[in-house]
Amino acid sequence: MDIITICEEKLPDYEEKARSSALSLLLQIKMFYEEHLHLDDEIRYVLDGSGYFDVRDDEDRWIRIFVEKGDLITLPAGIYHRFTVDEQNYVKAMRLFVGQPVWTAYNRPADHLEARKQYLTFLAQSA
Ligand code: LAC
Ligand code: NI
Repeated sequence: MDIITICEEKLPDYEEKARSSALSLLLQIKMFYEEHLHLDDEIRYVLDGSGYFDVRDDEDRWIRIFVEKGDLITLPAGIYHRFTVDEQNYVKAMRLFVGQPVWTAYNRPADHLEARKQYLTFLAQSA
């Protein structure tokens, strides 16, 4: 596991190093909110703060899931999703994974990927 913190308080700082890390944080926040999928399950345990996971249902409509301290969420490999913090602008989460962490996000459309096909098969079977 590793721990990721998204916190706006850390942003206002004009030292060069702090500025570039603030910038990469902003880019990361923007990337999280792009609709995407992964080849592995995305497992998050919220240690502090809160935010929203948006996932697509079986008819491709968004479902918004509010998560806060103490919540554990697993997004299966191949599901389209995105994430954002809320008005608090603060979340601290444990990212759990098996083996080497691979956080590669495949932005939609990514329907050609095996993980996507497997997820759709799983959905069809559980319907
Ligand atoms: C991620 C989440 C935030 O890919 O969807 O890390
Ligand atoms: Ni993701």
